Amino acid sequence: MGKDAAQEGAIESHLQEQRRFPPSAAFAQRAAVDPAQETRLRRRAAEEPDAFWAEVAGQLQWDRPFRRVREGTFPDARWFADGTLNAAVNCVDRHLQGPRRNKAAILWEGEDGSRATLTYLQLHEQVSRAANVLRERGVDAGDRVVLYLPLIPEAVVAMLACARIGAIHSVVFGGFSATALRERIADAGAVAVITADGGYRRGGVVPLKANVDVALSEGCPSVRDVLVVRRTGAPLSLVEGRDRWWHEALAEVPRTCQPVSRNAEDPLFILYTSGTTGRPKGIVHCTGGYLAWVAATTAWVFDLRDDDTYWCTADIGWITGHSYVVYGPLALGATVLLYEGAPDFPDRDRVWGLVARHQVTVLYTAPTAIRAFMKWGPAHPARHDRSSLRLLGTVGEPINPEAWSWYHSVIGNGRCPIVDTWWQTETGGILISPLPGVTTTVPGSATTPLPGISTAIVDSAGRDVQQGEGGLLVITQPWPSLARGIWGDRERFLQTYFSRIRGVYLTGDGARIDAEGYHWVMGRVDDVINVSGHRLGTAEIESALVAHPSVAEAAVVGTPHELTGEAVAAFVTLKADVEVPDRDALLQELSDQVVHQIGALARPCEIHLTEGLPKTRSGKIMRRLLRDLAAGRQVQGDTSTLEDRAVLERLREQEERPGSD
Ligand code: PRX
Repeated sequence: MGKDAAQEGAIESHLQEQRRFPPSAAFAQRAAVDPAQETRLRRRAAEEPDAFWAEVAGQLQWDRPFRRVREGTFPDARWFADGTLNAAVNCVDRHLQGPRRNKAAILWEGEDGSRATLTYLQLHEQVSRAANVLRERGVDAGDRVVLYLPLIPEAVVAMLACARIGAIHSVVFGGFSATALRERIADAGAVAVITADGGYRRGGVVPLKANVDVALSEGCPSVRDVLVVRRTGAPLSLVEGRDRWWHEALAEVPRTCQPVSRNAEDPLFILYTSGTTGRPKGIVHCTGGYLAWVAATTAWVFDLRDDDTYWCTADIGWITGHSYVVYGPLALGATVLLYEGAPDFPDRDRVWGLVARHQVTVLYTAPTAIRAFMKWGPAHPARHDRSSLRLLGTVGEPINPEAWSWYHSVIGNGRCPIVDTWWQTETGGILISPLPGVTTTVPGSATTPLPGISTAIVDSAGRDVQQGEGGLLVITQPWPSLARGIWGDRERFLQTYFSRIRGVYLTGDGARIDAEGYHWVMGRVDDVINVSGHRLGTAEIESALVAHPSVAEAAVVGTPHELTGEAVAAFVTLKADVEVPDRDALLQELSDQVVHQIGALARPCEIHLTEGLPKTRSGKIMRRLLRDLAAGRQVQGDTSTLEDRAVLERLREQEERPGSD
């Protein structure tokens, strides 16, 4: 066997994760989707797709039932287009008829310890009042309203109030700067902004209203109204004729509000995501297809029942917050926990205190959070009762098997199935995930596409790759919750997702599918490193590093190399309690670990030990910055989404100290 073949063999063997976690009989017995139901769904999706999708959408309450299911195909498939419905009615009003009327829709805890509960009935009143306020101010169906809020109940109320009158909300994450906010308000042409006097984050106050003032002073002529929720009591000035207190405005309007029937294809919201370059993309989601798929996937993947307390830790400023904090769970009439603040404030056991106090049953979070919990150590969760948990979920990036195992054994005490859910802002809802009562999980794999979803792995020319080979993940058939466009930029929409490979949706992720049909997502294709013409997923190398007992978290990037094209540069943070008597020996061990698990090809040419990794506020490692640092370049581009700037500064200093590694 030649050297290259031997190396490839080593890579393959690493990728063959051996552990299998079949669903427990107890879970399967009560699951919303059991094996028989799964077989039925998959068969129906394959044999009678229109009937399958009609069944999915039939779970919603339609004002005018649809007769047509799908018309057209990529990039312009339309779904349920002759049906009309209202998203807020589906998430609130329809639960008022039976016992859910007085059930908690939202349990909320502020970072400062404030608490609130909104029943479905109370939520209905709040949403109706807020909708009346907007309507009274002349906000019409189709108008855009920007929400710039902390994670407080009013954020959910505001989203649903927009939906009630057919206005299109665009939530801007509260951690974005005034500049980023202005850009998004201007791009959307918003007529109103809903904000708060501030929000709490790690004990400090985020000056949301002040940021709105700055953004609006820099030219957003479309904005006529600003509503301000009182959260912190921080002093502020209201601009006469433009700004009003939320609580005062809501108190002055009627408590019921006639909802507007929307066509299924009418936009429900815009959500901006940062592209790798250029301006942010305003991803547009529609009303019917989006809501149908997020409701169905919430039921299938999170298995929600009426007695569950469900906590998705995402902020509503991200798609996960839209689909799996607000629209999916509320469409099912679930009880949703919201927590405003940081997971380590005032202490690193905050999350586990919340789980115990609210008896959370289903927890959905991100690998980056799981790795932080790992780094902080098992003593924090151990202090709190976690026996209420029955299902754990993860989303946002590939989860390394070590973090998966830790989540499973430490957080779930080995009892809870884990759903590793793959999807994107553009896909609207989950596309690849285990079904917790059916699927045997394998750490690190999001397993298989959900019923109705068809995937393939292709090369850059669009040809299917050999089974097991890496390539581009594409979705081959339309599904109802695909984004309908990029706001104001159809060309970019077509260009980004539909032009490189014809006839499919291009996800931008690299992945492979193994012999059992399990999907292994390697990350964005720009996170794939090409060493000597061999494709290496950053996630696999990171996973190898994190498997070392001293390592808390690792990020790997490609760096230009004169011999191999690209080489592997690794940034590693160690667990809090690790002593490093011999730094060189540790670096050698880490390097050997990668070689041992993956192959010599993947040996890092440099390993930087660092106290932290630069992350966006949504917890994604900003590899772009690491690539610049590794290549000895000036850090380029926008760093406004960085969660903690000090991390970048420290990394820079390290780089500038000769021989620091
Ligand atoms: O690369 C994939 C990764 O996150 C990307 C989508 O990011 P965003 O639009 O911000 O949405 C995040 C929440 C859905 C994908 O292209 N990603 C998301 N979930 C997973 C994942 N990668 C691997 N496994 C996942 N479960």
